[in-house]
Amino acid sequence: MAFLIISSILLALVTFVIHVLISRIRFFKLRKRIGLDGPEPHWFLGNLKEIIERKRAIGYDNSNEWFRELHKKYGDKFGIYFGKQLTIAISNEEDIKEVFITNFSNFSDRIVAPIFQETQLITSLLQSSYKTGWKNCRSAIAPIFATGKMKAMHSTVTSKIDTFLSILEEKSEQGEKWDIYDDFQGLTLDVIGKCAFAVDSDCQRNRKEVFYVQARNFVNNIDIRHSPLISTSFILPELAWIWRSAYKYTALAAAEQPLVDGLSSVYERRRAGEGAESVDLLKLLLDRENDKQRPMSKREVIENCFAFLLAGYETTSTAMTYCTYLLSRHPTVQQKLYDEIHEAKMSTGLDYDSIHSLKYLDAVYKETLRVFPPVIQ
Ligand SMILES: *[C@@H]1O[C@H](CO)[C@@H](O)[C@H](O)[C@H]1NC(C)=O
Ligand SMILES: *[C@@H]1O[C@H](CO)[C@@H](O)[C@H](O)[C@H]1NC(C)=O
Repeated sequence: MAFLIISSILLALVTFVIHVLISRIRFFKLRKRIGLDGPEPHWFLGNLKEIIERKRAIGYDNSNEWFRELHKKYGDKFGIYFGKQLTIAISNEEDIKEVFITNFSNFSDRIVAPIFQETQLITSLLQSSYKTGWKNCRSAIAPIFATGKMKAMHSTVTSKIDTFLSILEEKSEQGEKWDIYDDFQGLTLDVIGKCAFAVDSDCQRNRKEVFYVQARNFVNNIDIRHSPLISTSFILPELAWIWRSAYKYTALAAAEQPLVDGLSSVYERRRAGEGAESVDLLKLLLDRENDKQRPMSKREVIENCFAFLLAGYETTSTAMTYCTYLLSRHPTVQQKLYDEIHEAKMSTGLDYDSIHSLKYLDAVYKETLRVFPPVIQ
């Protein structure tokens, strides 16, 4: 009996290993078949092996640099394997337009690794697919960026920036070095909290705010280096059911829950009528709940708020940090930018419209995004 059990287990294991190997051999031929080149994949890890090794060797993610090297070597269209998943990198302007504009309906979906299918983001704009309502989410969220609404947010943003500047002044008076990234994170979280949910958080002064602690925690734990489980789930999607059931024990899930709970309670308060006069993202989504034609569920509303918080906070604070870094390395650019802003402030004051006419500011920010893109995929 024991022999039978052991041999069945062994047989199952061998079959599984053979299945994994064969499917990899098949996937690793795909790139060539569609006429693309790229770095040789490791038989099991694909090109994730290089990504992990590079991170280990230098201690931080410099995938941007790696992509630049690959671009030099393979031209403006090549393929890399994240585990066994083929990903095509393009950098030709025409190709990018085709993917992002002309054929966008065929490209809006993202790969969601099995483990991420358990996050409370799955019905949000970040993870939902064209089939599961991406378009509906998008049409609910897009109006928040309309000019009128952005103008209405201007004074909120300005007051948060005033706090930011006084914190920088206090810190620089102490004469010590500090990491400005933390301050940018606090600033973006406070702005998003107020503009998207009408929540008066104080992440800038209070480093114990739940938004601040858990949003940082969540983003840190998405990093492959910090979570062997996430990287393994990319490498072995065949065991999706294991990764999915393990999700709730991860640090990612632990960071996620307080954020979702916080947003749920804001949601309940708003439904009960709090902040009725505020025009923000949550208000727009709540209105959608009553929309007969394209209704949104409570879950969709909360998950979209969560996605907005995470995606907006991480990318914006990273980009602003790199911008200050580049300005510190290029003092003549810094001076020119200062002069442009100063001049606008003296002549018309800094409001929504005058900021939009600052061409040099626009150029500096775009160049920052080009040199250090906060999102590489
Ligand atoms: C875009 O769509 C056209 C027409 O359906 C098709 O011929 C073309 O190959 C598509 N491009 C991409 C990049 O998929
Ligand atoms: C999307 O893909 C389908 C199937 O390949 C194709 O028929 C359709 O034309 C594509 N649509 C766009 C907008 O590219």
